[in-house]
Amino acid sequence: MINNEFGRFTFRVAPLRNVELTAPYFHDGAYPTLAAVVRHYNNVPVALRGFDVSQLAPALRSLYHGEEATIGAVLAGLDSRLRQPLGLTDDEQRDLVAFLESLTDPSARDLRSLTPAAVPSGLPVQE
Ligand code: HEM
Repeated sequence: MINNEFGRFTFRVAPLRNVELTAPYFHDGAYPTLAAVVRHYNNVPVALRGFDVSQLAPALRSLYHGEEATIGAVLAGLDSRLRQPLGLTDDEQRDLVAFLESLTDPSARDLRSLTPAAVPSGLPVQE
């Protein structure tokens, strides 16, 4: 039998190449910027308890459930390296964001040249 509890609140890490171009972040799109992601990592318990729902698209805000039982369960399964605050300074957080931005392939910024003029189905190709 599959042990569903084991995988609760665990997610495959998305590849970080071009991560600058793929906001919003995490499996649920919780954060709109890399700066917000790094702030989250700097103090995960504080970030979870103080999550600002206004960061979410209006249509998603009612789906947020940040009750203590859920937050406690997430924290219970958190990797030990993130249980304590990292204590990163603002400069260090900016450096981390700059590092993540350095993973961007310049040619990935504009992929319009890869859009075919037509597809076999004949359906319209979006501009
Ligand atoms: C300060 C150090 C870290 C940075 C800057 C960082 C950066 C990131 C970023 C940018 C993402 C979002 C990827 C996306 O949504 O496209 C991510 C996701 C993720 N990271 Fe980290 N990470 C750090 C530490 C860790 C650690 C220590 C772990 C666990 C051992 C971890 C596990 C994960 C997981 C499981 C996800 C996917 C979460 C989800 O989709 O909800 N990260 N990380």
